Amino acid sequence: MSKKIYIETYGCQMNFSDSEIVASVMTSHDAKVTDAPENADVILLNTCSIRDNAERRVVNRLRALQHLRKRRPGLLIGVLGCMAERLKEDLLEEKTLGLRVDLVAGPDAYRQLPELMADAETGQKAINVMLSADETYADISPVRYTPGGVSAFISIMRGCENFCAYCVVPFTRGKERSRDPRSILAEARRLLADGFREVTLLGQNVNSYRWKEDDSGKVTGFSELLGEVASVDPRLRIRFATSHPKDMSDELLHQMARHPNICKAIHLPLQSGSSEVLKRMNRKYTREDYLERIAAIKRILPGCGLSTDIIAGFCGETEEEFGETMDVMDQAGFDFAFMFKYSERPGTLAAKKYADDVPEAVKTRRLTSIIDKQQALSLESNRSDIGKTMEVLTEGRSKRSDRMMMGRTSHNKVVVFPDQGFKPGDYVQVKITACSAATLKGEAVKSH
Ligand code: SAH
Ligand code: SF4
Ligand code: F3S
Repeated sequence: MSKKIYIETYGCQMNFSDSEIVASVMTSHDAKVTDAPENADVILLNTCSIRDNAERRVVNRLRALQHLRKRRPGLLIGVLGCMAERLKEDLLEEKTLGLRVDLVAGPDAYRQLPELMADAETGQKAINVMLSADETYADISPVRYTPGGVSAFISIMRGCENFCAYCVVPFTRGKERSRDPRSILAEARRLLADGFREVTLLGQNVNSYRWKEDDSGKVTGFSELLGEVASVDPRLRIRFATSHPKDMSDELLHQMARHPNICKAIHLPLQSGSSEVLKRMNRKYTREDYLERIAAIKRILPGCGLSTDIIAGFCGETEEEFGETMDVMDQAGFDFAFMFKYSERPGTLAAKKYADDVPEAVKTRRLTSIIDKQQALSLESNRSDIGKTMEVLTEGRSKRSDRMMMGRTSHNKVVVFPDQGFKPGDYVQVKITACSAATLKGEAVKSH
């Protein structure tokens, strides 16, 4: 009888994409995916270690799931992803978290899940946290969460070797490696044939993608790959995340300008606006370098959507250094930002080298300041869109109202508009009439 597997995903888009690989590996081994944990034979949490609170959420969830063991003897609970990689066999020791975990698999071990599960069933230690220099799961066809959906992820490279001082990812995801472009193009074509209209190319450092052919020595860089994926079909929109400022070349910006179906939106994590803090963070660019990249984006791609990640209260951050972050936010005029308080991660360069010395209350105050500023910037950016007509790719119904549809512009802004018989996947021209800081509202003017 086939086993029922329940998968729950935490963390970044890459983890969500990996869960589709996990579903594929499992379903090709006579398992079925269920969306109800209480009916599952195996519960897998695909976890994130990026900040302490991300790990705490997972531990709380693991604790809450333990009672299901009473109802379902033989139930297996497994931890996948970055926490599996960070904590390794400690997770199998009941005393580490004060609860039982039956199976542990790191991000490069998903092909071994069926064997690990068989081991766990016989009560053996089931663990594989080997990182690989070449695993890209290129030949595995992901099982999509949203069959018949509009937008899908394609993971194109894995791992990170940048070692930003605060970051756990190089330890949990291993060496940087890119996937064969032919398998990426084949996946894009398959998604188009299945009705998808948007793909997001994913990587921890997506723009450092680099593939070298063994025989000819031909190199495909990220801009070339982007051009090839964009040429699959003009109806297929292309996005990508996340870019590192050091690899955000003019060539890439020109490639984006050449192809109308490459979305005009760039997520470019700033982290800090102070060159001194950036140096301690080991980010390999200065405040001036970052601002120069923003200027290049505005020059080559006028009106391009811009979003970022910012950390408040990194080790040694002074009031003045924090002020420089606020200043870069104003100069760049981000449309959107993910903002975090610094959270020390064991084993990272920062944990070894610097004291986590910004008091919690100061971190909180600085975080509130950047959130307030971003709210104002987002509102200003959305207000400037009122009166414009924009192409929106319809994703589905608005969560708030059944009579409204929602979709996104090329610039990655969410637009809500009245339903006039539109279907997910339709491109609709919408005239923007109102906004909040988070969404645009409008009316369809014509569709095709
Ligand atoms: N690869 C991407 C993002 C990785 S994690 C990049 O290079 O930018 C996503 C975001 O989490 C980071 O951009 C950073 O802003 C934040 N982050 C990472 N480690 C953190 C930590 N220890 N504390 C707080 N925020 C962190
Ligand atoms: Fe972490 Fe830096 Fe790598 Fe991004 S580039 S994943 S922040 S180490
Ligand atoms: Fe989290 Fe790992 Fe992604 S730490 S952000 S799930 S790479």
